[in-house]
Amino acid sequence: MFRVLSKATARVAAPAMCFTSLPSLTYPAELPKLSFDYKDGVAPVFSPRQIELHYTKHHKSYVDKLNTIGAGFEGKTIEEIILATDGKVDKKVMFNQAAQHFNHSFYWNCICPGGKAIPKELESAIAKAFGSVEKFKEAFQAAGANNFGSGWTWLCIDPKTNALVIDNTSNAGCPLTANLRPILTVDVWEHAYYKDFENRRPDYLNDFWKIVNWEYVAQQYAHVSK
Ligand SMILES: [Fe+2]
Repeated sequence: MFRVLSKATARVAAPAMCFTSLPSLTYPAELPKLSFDYKDGVAPVFSPRQIELHYTKHHKSYVDKLNTIGAGFEGKTIEEIILATDGKVDKKVMFNQAAQHFNHSFYWNCICPGGKAIPKELESAIAKAFGSVEKFKEAFQAAGANNFGSGWTWLCIDPKTNALVIDNTSNAGCPLTANLRPILTVDVWEHAYYKDFENRRPDYLNDFWKIVNWEYVAQQYAHVSK
């Protein structure tokens, strides 16, 4: 039997688009709270000054600028704004701020002081995809080292095949626009490491594993591979 939805039912909004296991980032944007005190740095890899600059200057500048140009997107998730502005010349500035806010928020969740051990299920999935966790790390580091200029290196799930894939994006690029679901990222913009590593990006990438929060990566893996 055909049933007409009541007006009250019809007004129920669709769930907000959110491809991370975090509480969704929404507009107006806010600098997210971190799981660690940024004033302590992220030992043993990042000094307090490196993290202070990255978080309170660089990340905050994207949040602040987005909030000056995002009228009309109130209540939307940052992921929705990224997808709505991707590829649109007249929305390029908004895309850049929204994507950088998402990318940085995601990155902060991927790291923590001292790192966390990799859970068995994720370790097995990575070993199955890349041969071993060590081989994955080599491939990820090589991708990051060869990501020309500013950008991000990601481990993602391709939802079409459920395969784990390494992806490089340039500048503010974000894998959501290629229909990939990120589970780990490293920021390879120079501002992410220059204070501590100067121009030695390979050294930064080599040390990155000491601070990876594999518990979050596994949480995100479970979230997007459902
Ligand atoms: Fe950054």
